Formats: sequence, C-alpha cells, structure tokens
Amino acid sequence: MKTGFGRFRPALLALALLTACFSAACSGGGTESSPPASATKAEQHGGVGGSGSKHGGKIKIGFSMDTLLEERWQKDRDLFKAAGEALGAEVVIMAANGDDAKQILQAEMMISQGVDILVIVPHDAGATAAIVKKAHSAGIKVMAYDRLVKNADIDLYVSFDNEKVGELQANAITSIVPRGKFVYIGGADTDNNAHLFKKGVFNVLQPLIDKGDVSVVYDQWTKDWTPVNALANMRSALSANGNKIDAVIAANDATAGGVVEALTEQGLAGRIPVAGQDAELAAAQRIVEGTQTMTVYKPIKLLADKAAELAVKLAKGESPGADRKVNNGKIEVPSVLLPPIAVDKNNIDETIIADGFHSREDVYKNAKK
Ligand code: BGC
Repeated sequence: MKTGFGRFRPALLALALLTACFSAACSGGGTESSPPASATKAEQHGGVGGSGSKHGGKIKIGFSMDTLLEERWQKDRDLFKAAGEALGAEVVIMAANGDDAKQILQAEMMISQGVDILVIVPHDAGATAAIVKKAHSAGIKVMAYDRLVKNADIDLYVSFDNEKVGELQANAITSIVPRGKFVYIGGADTDNNAHLFKKGVFNVLQPLIDKGDVSVVYDQWTKDWTPVNALANMRSALSANGNKIDAVIAANDATAGGVVEALTEQGLAGRIPVAGQDAELAAAQRIVEGTQTMTVYKPIKLLADKAAELAVKLAKGESPGADRKVNNGKIEVPSVLLPPIAVDKNNIDETIIADGFHSREDVYKNAKK
C-alpha cells in the first residue's frame, strides 16, 4: 500500500486532538484507548539530566509504535522508555494500534514537536517510508526497531535475527516430526519480519520437502497477526485436510493461541506439535501444559537497551558502530541483530524464568500437579 503524507494530511480537529495528546505525553493509541500501563504518563519528564541534543538540553526520542495490543509490545514500550531515561533522554511514545494513517500522523506530530531522533516499529513496512522522508527533511535520523522499514533511507535497524527465529522453530518441530503434513500459519504480510520468519522456516523445511518427507498442506498469512484470524486459518487447514495434520508452525504466540484453539475444538490439542515465538505468558503456560511445543524467546530488554543506546548516539551525531547490513529494497541498512533462543519445556526454567521474563509461579499456574 502506498501512503503519502499528503493523503493523510490531518483534519484540523484530529490535529488538535493529537496535539493535546502529544502535549500530555500520551503513550497509548493517540485518542483511542490503549492497555493500562505504568508508562502512560510523564513520557516527557523522565531522565536524569543528560544532554547532547542538537538544540542543547536533553535528547528527545520519539518512539512510534504500531500497536500495544500484544503483550510483547507493552514490554518493549516500558523497557525502551526506562532505557532511554536511564541515559538521560526524554522518551515520547505514541502507538497507532494497527492504523497506518494514524502512525504516519503521530510520527509527523513528533517531528514537528522537535524530537532529536525517531524510532519506529512500523505497522506496514512500506507505508512508513513516508515517515523516514519527512524526518530526514527535518534533519532527524530514523531507526527501525524490531521491524524493518522497506524502501527508505533508514539510518539504523536494531532487531533480532529474525530468519534464525524461523529456523529455530522448524528445527524444533522437525526433530519431533521428521516427516509428515505440516501447516504454516504466517504472520502479517505487511510486516517484513513475517517474511523473514517464513524464510527461516523454509530454509529448514525445503530439503525435507525436496526429499519427499515433508509436505506443507496449508500456508497462509494472518492479517494483523490476530489470534482470531489465525483461528480461522487453522480451522480451514484442518477441514481441508480432514484433520490429518502432523505439525503446525505458527509465526508467533498470538497466532499459536488461535491454532491451539482450533486444535482444541477438534480434540487434537496436545497431540499435534505447535511452534510459536515471543515467549508470551500464555504460550509459556501452554508449553508446561503440553498444548504448545516450543516458543522462541527474544530478550526484549537487550533489544530495548541496545536500541536506546544507539538512538542516543545517532541523536548526538555519533556513529552507532553497527556491524551488519540488511537490504531493505533501497539501501544496505546498518543493522544490529541479536540472537533469539529456542524454548521448550526442558529449558523454560533456565531461560525465561531465570531471566525474570515471567515468574515461575505464573508459568506453572495452570499446570497439573
Ligand atoms: C515481531 C514479533 C511479534 C509480531 C506481532 C513481529 O514483527 O517480531 O515478535 O509477535 O510482530 O506483533
């Protein structure tokens, strides 16, 4: 979808509402409601007096988020804010909850309010290129956080090794089911990560497909990554194959939740291996209960800390020292990619629980004694 600023030029009322929201330092979805959080107020008052802004004084980081409607992004928001403030920066956060026009509008607001650096989690990898252009023409550098912005002169990309995420999923599942009928429930087609996760999965599956050991009997994107769309996809996969499916790889834990729901309806939950990612609490609980086989843990704190550190460097005009390059269709983007970790019931204690990502008590809450 092509999106230009002209097309989304705000109506005066919307602009006024957003201005009010910005001044009050909203961290939620602009004028719409967002999940309750510790970081909803005083986004503009944090920090310990660091300096280095182009305009003198405290560096102001604008964090433009796609959504806060998933557990992981609430962690990202809180951890990124804390990391930025610990470095003496001020962090302004806005979330568009899946609305491209709103994300662009919010970014435009942050630019006009004078942020020193813009950090974006794009809803649509292509549409947000408009934000990069706008920021650059105002002399503001732009970092892509977790998800790449495509076809834009983005300054830096900080994420996990997303292709590796898919490889970890497929390795875990094929070590249990080396041959059979596989279902792939993808992420949102608009998210570059969804393509990388899928590429990683097929890096592992393709040789098995070529040998005739594995067949992928269903392969669909999940619009906006929602569990309800994944549930519908998984119902279709089951009915198209008369329930004869041997394994499911879902692009994340939200979609894995929809998959497990569809399997439960058919009395198959716990009998067909399912992979997800994000180490969400519900997924960790499904793992110990036995209805989900594995997840991929991405330590969000490392990502948030690294992104905040490099955002401050970029804002000060320093080199971020990024060692990798990722092609975004336009340029080779300097990138930092952190390693993801496969988690199943055997290492859940020493990974997500040991890290304090979730408490042992929460993870084992529903487990049979
Ligand atoms: C992230 C995943 C997340 C998904 C849906 C992806 O870009 O990398 O961690 O589950 O978006 O929000």
